[in-house]
Amino acid sequence: MVESARHIMNSSKHLDDLFTLLAFPSISTDSDYKDDLDQCADWLIGKLNDAGLKTEKHPTAGHPVVIARNEHQQGRKTVLIYGHYDVQPVDPVELWNSPPFEATVKDGVIYARGSTDNKGQHFAHICGVADTIKEHGDLPVNLIFLLEGEEEIGSPNLEPFLKQHADDLKCDVVVVSDTGMVGPGIPTLTYGLRGIACLEFTLKGPSIDLHSGIYGGAVANPATVVAELIASLHDADGKIAIEGFYDDVKPLESWEREQWADLPDGEAATLKETHVPALFGEAGYSSLERRWGRPTAEVNGIGGGYQGEGSKTVIPSQAFAKLSFRLVPGQDPAKVLQLAEAHLIKHCPDGVNIEIDAGHAGNPYVMDAHSNYGKAAQSALQKTFDADPVLIREGGSIPIIDSFKQVLGVDTLMCGLALPDCQAHAPNENFPIANFEAGIKLNRLLLQELADLD
Ligand code: BES
Ligand code: MN
Repeated sequence: MVESARHIMNSSKHLDDLFTLLAFPSISTDSDYKDDLDQCADWLIGKLNDAGLKTEKHPTAGHPVVIARNEHQQGRKTVLIYGHYDVQPVDPVELWNSPPFEATVKDGVIYARGSTDNKGQHFAHICGVADTIKEHGDLPVNLIFLLEGEEEIGSPNLEPFLKQHADDLKCDVVVVSDTGMVGPGIPTLTYGLRGIACLEFTLKGPSIDLHSGIYGGAVANPATVVAELIASLHDADGKIAIEGFYDDVKPLESWEREQWADLPDGEAATLKETHVPALFGEAGYSSLERRWGRPTAEVNGIGGGYQGEGSKTVIPSQAFAKLSFRLVPGQDPAKVLQLAEAHLIKHCPDGVNIEIDAGHAGNPYVMDAHSNYGKAAQSALQKTFDADPVLIREGGSIPIIDSFKQVLGVDTLMCGLALPDCQAHAPNENFPIANFEAGIKLNRLLLQELADLD
């Protein structure tokens, strides 16, 4: 009786704290919010101190890195829990049903930017750790929290930080909750992520916008050429037409194709989540295979020419597109960027000049879900949800995860709690209170499972 009353009390204190964390507009891509990121890092430091951990705030060329650890003891496993306190922009803000930085609960679901991606998820780990220390005086493992403020912009300063502090961050395994569940109540272990490579190209034609009546038909239109170049990226079967693009792609294993075919989130679910009139994609692959196990070329933005009301008869002087490629195991982002640049240059007609700027990039990642660590994660997920976990890859990217492997030599257990309709990066991002509480429970069970490994 007393136990359960205390549990309820703790969990509402944790929720209050989560709402405070969600109130920081920690938008990493927009320099107007730099101070908010800094204050958010300070607030986390305070919470981690209160939990009984030793904390460090590390300034970087961008936003601060927060580290916290318990007193490490020889003979115990060392677990590094990674999360990110930065969030994506909120536009279009008019489509939010409640203010993005005022957490609002409706039918047991928290609505706020960052609720799922990733504040709600990493704060559940902080709460789990705080509760365990409060009850037992310590944790069953040596713990390191590593929280960054630049994940949503490709973690440009975190890999150098890892290299610089590799000795201090030495660990046996990394735990991350920044991925999804295939459905409510279905525990999900993610054993792979796609990588990413971004670029922007600008086409420059006439030195100023031209009268399209006077010059139209005799001067190449940069906006038309943007469309032609974008169209040249895919063939009629939805395959990417860049020479050499698939050379290093590791094919899907037959066991993965079989297991994914049994998952509830099939094509109907994708249609329902996205509200598109029909699905699209590379011939020969299911919707989940296309999203999790095959590479893509996407246009994230396109611009040039008149955007105002009514018409304006010009040949725009310039036009641009922003592209990103999602990559699968085997592919190297630097090589893909080279191939893409060569493709764009080759297909660009003489009438315009092309300038290409490479953007951020991150490696794909895959681990053995059946390793001892993978099994420990599966067991903790099973106990948390009282159901057998499913094993999936995800289409999103968390660039630092492959760096954990390259720099620290360790695998990452991705035990995310995001639901398919969480609206990450979109208006009305949300996270059920039940998932937040499951995250707290999962933290405690997982640290114990990891401590019990030989
Ligand atoms: N939590 C996501 C990554 C993710 C998304 C994992 C969906 C699994 C499923 C993360 O915060 C994110 O959005 N990453 C960016 C990284 C990019 C900006 C380098 C992404 O995937 O677009
Ligand atoms: Mn994100």
